[in-house]
Amino acid sequence: MKVAIGSDHAGFHLKEELKKTLEDLGVSYEDVGTNSASSVDYPDYAEKVARAVAEGRVDRGILCCGTGLGMCISANKIHGVRAVTAHDVFSAEMSRRHNNANVLTMGERVVGPGIADQVLRVWINTEFEGGGRHEARVNKMMVLDEAGK
Ligand code: RB5
Repeated sequence: MKVAIGSDHAGFHLKEELKKTLEDLGVSYEDVGTNSASSVDYPDYAEKVARAVAEGRVDRGILCCGTGLGMCISANKIHGVRAVTAHDVFSAEMSRRHNNANVLTMGERVVGPGIADQVLRVWINTEFEGGGRHEARVNKMMVLDEAGK
């Protein structure tokens, strides 16, 4: 698996922590920035990661900002992206099992590095259940995605 990871200034330190988790998991990543705590605009980094996922250059994306929310809203504007904000292990797991989320966002001002590490581990290691009702519902989401273009 390969992932793209990005942040704004408010999520920079969390991004650096999550890169260590990815390394520990043996997951290769492309870091699209930002590379410091100097102020930048989160949609610019959300777009980089979301396009990498939507275009199939990576399997999944990870985005960090202050809350995780602006990154999530921005990433979901890109066709084919199913971004979720998850700050707990249960949500992270279910976002993979039921929603086939392909981008995870977290907020450095919301969650500490220890919980973020656990959330990311579960999110990376959980597969979409697929088949049956969950696949049909995800397909309906993607019809909405297409219709809203
Ligand atoms: C930056 O101050 C902050 O607004 C941003 O990181 C994020 O939390 C927005 O959703």
